[in-house]
Order: sequence, then structure tokens, then C-alpha cells
Amino acid sequence: MKNLLNKKILFIICGGISAYKSLETIRLFKKNGAEIKTILTKNAKEFVTPLSVASLSHGKVYSDLFSIENEAEMDHISLSRWADIIIISPATANTISKLALGTTDDLASTVVLASDKNIYLSPAMNVRMWEHPTTKINLRKLKDFGYKIIGPEIGDMACGEYGEGKMSDPITIAEEIDKYFLTKKNNKKFKALVTAGPTNEYIDPVRFITNKSSGKQGYELAKSLSKEGFDTTLISGPTNLKTQNDIKLIKVETADEMLVATQESLPVDVAICSAAVSDFKIKKKYENKIKKQETLNLNLEKNIDILNYISNHNSKRPKLVIGFAAETNSIEKNAEKKLNKKNCDWIISNDVSNKDIGFNSDYNEVTIHYKNKSIKKEKLLYKEKSEISNEIVDRIIDQLN
Ligand SMILES: Cc1cc2nc3c(=O)[nH]c(=O)nc-3n(C[C@H](O)[C@H](O)[C@H](O)COP(=O)(O)O)c2cc1C
Repeated sequence: MKNLLNKKILFIICGGISAYKSLETIRLFKKNGAEIKTILTKNAKEFVTPLSVASLSHGKVYSDLFSIENEAEMDHISLSRWADIIIISPATANTISKLALGTTDDLASTVVLASDKNIYLSPAMNVRMWEHPTTKINLRKLKDFGYKIIGPEIGDMACGEYGEGKMSDPITIAEEIDKYFLTKKNNKKFKALVTAGPTNEYIDPVRFITNKSSGKQGYELAKSLSKEGFDTTLISGPTNLKTQNDIKLIKVETADEMLVATQESLPVDVAICSAAVSDFKIKKKYENKIKKQETLNLNLEKNIDILNYISNHNSKRPKLVIGFAAETNSIEKNAEKKLNKKNCDWIISNDVSNKDIGFNSDYNEVTIHYKNKSIKKEKLLYKEKSEISNEIVDRIIDQLN
């Protein structure tokens, strides 16, 4: 397990009978060079002691949300920022339920909700608890949020029953986390380019043509790519959105500027054109502010098509070119048409006439149209744009590997 060396792991132990096994998982992480900080839920302390966890992890053990000493040293937000990854093991039915609901009534749940890191869960519980529809729904939700789940296994349980719900072995958990860091390291060799937001096409020095694109989906895609280790460049039209430091952000205003930034950012392995580039621009921009008048005819010309430019590039065409199709009618048909006409590999279509998923919404529902795959299209149902991004990026990783 070479990939655990110097990795910062925030290990959360919940109050389940298999909490004792987490001591072995922590030992394995430590043996392979990881740095560990641990949070014990209040109930976890009924099963393992902070002293044994501290001795094995050689790291600090946290438990209390309202600890003056801990807040002063490393507050609950910094704790999540410190980590490269968060693991909850064992994850009890109770904690899974709290995370699915966004309940933050202790240190563990608060840190997880405040986290922007990848989170792994290894659930462990009685077979009836595991099979209960509530647990199933909660797990489904967490998977949709991007949580990764390890196990559980089928076997004999501490309570004497038999079935699914037994926590995966420490070695399985440690190897899965090692694999995560390996994938992330491999992804580092990939360069990604995302375009996002609208463009402003100036009529005169103070007026322009634009559209309602918020850029949210593109920003989330850049975030997901970066989280998975991609060397990510985001070329953004005018938005109010913020992004994290590990994403190279290039701010532009017009389609022409976006094209220059794109040209300068190639070559990349994957390009995602989610920007709503204005289809038209003013043929000859007025040098001075236009004076009030009864009527004004604007002479528009076709703008540069950046998606087309990238996917037909002679020497620098990325391995994977993905376009977006924001449509208000005949969505599927228009998307298929765009896929063929633009020579890209995937088109992701969505219905922007639907206010719940259109511009500026935090939610989306999209269909991915594939060019060279046996399945021709795949629908990602209504969920947050961040979750849609995680799902798209999972598919990108599969494709590039
Ligand atoms: C002896 C004993 C063993 C338990 N084992 C489990 C378990 O394996 N999985 C689980 O989900 N809950 C288990 N529970 C119930 C949890 O301890 C309980 O739901 C608690 O509220 C979990 O708190 P936490 O999620 O904040 O750690 C067990 C309770 C007892 C008394």
C-alpha cells in the first residue's frame, strides 16, 4: 500500500460493535505512512477508548464539538480542510441517517457536512437494520451526494444473526483507500479544460448582448475534476461564482477572448464546453455610446464556435470532447444533431425551459449522448449540479482509463 505515504486521513469512528476493528485499520494506515487524526462520536467511546486510538494513531483524538481547547488549536472547519480524505468506519445506521438529512448535532456530523473532501463510509450493522428501507434510502442519498461506500459483507454478526451488514475487513478498507490515492495520482497526469458561464458581446462601450447562463454547472464540473486529481483549467465568462485555488481560473468576457484562452490552454486530455457562448456578435462595435433614438438596427454576425474549434483541431484535439446543449424544445433531437455536426464525443443536454433545472438553478437533470459507445444515451436524474458533476466525472475517468 504505497500510496498512503504522507496522506492525511481523518478517521471517524461511530458507536458500533465493530468499532474495535477500526483500531486495526488505523494501525494499517499508520504502518503505511499515513498521518491520522480521529474523531470518536460520543457513543463510539462506549466501544473503544480515546487512549487506545491515540496510542495507535500517534495523532490527536477529537470528540467534543464544544471544546475550547480543540477549537483554539484546530477548529471543526480546519479539521476537514486538513484532511486529504475522510473515512467513517464503522458507519452506524444512526450516523448514516444524520448525514443523509444534514443533521449536525455533534463534531463528526458537523465536520462531514462542512467538508469538501471525498468521504468513504464502511457501514456495519445488524442485517435487519441494513435491509430496512430507511437505511437503503439514506445510503442511496449519500451515494448520490458522492460518498463512496465500502461493504458491508455477508457473514456472522456479533448479535448472533447471519446476513449482510458485517463491516468489511480492515485490510479491504485500507486497500480501497490506497486504490483511491493511486487513482488520484494517475488522474494527475490528465489535463482538463472547462469553459463556463455566458459571454458578453459588446454593442458599444457600455452595452452588450448576453444570456442567462450562471456558470454553476461548469464551475461544479471543474471542482469535481480537480477533486479527483485532474490538472484543471476553468475558462469563465462573467459570473459571480468563486472557485478553489487548485483550479487555474481564466476570466474572459467575450467569445473572442474565450477562444484565445482556449487556444492557449490546449493541449488537454478532456475538454468540457459548458459555456453558453453567444451565437452572435455585433459586426462592427460602436466606438462611442449610442445616443437615444427611435429605432436602432443591429448588424449581427455569427460568433466563433469554440466547441467546433476544439473537436476539429488537427493536432491538439483532446481525447475526449464534451459539449453541452441547453435546449428549450426537441431536446433529444437537437442534442443528437449537435453530437454529429460538431464532431464531439459526448453531448450533455438539458431542458433550460424548466425553471427547476435551468439557468441559475442549483439543480439539473441531464442526458448524456454518446457517440462511440454501445449505449447511446444515459439520463442523470434531477439532483444538485455538484452531484451531476461527480457522476459525469466518474464517467470521464472510466473513459480516459
Ligand atoms: C452493544 C451495541 C452494539 C451496537 N452495534 C451497532 C452497530 O453495529 N451498528 C449500528 O448501526 N448501531 C449499533 N448500535 C446502536 C448505536 O450504538 C446507536 O444507534 C448509537 O446512537 C450510534 O451513535 P453514533 O452514530 O453517534 O455513533 C449498537 C448498540 C449497542 C448497545
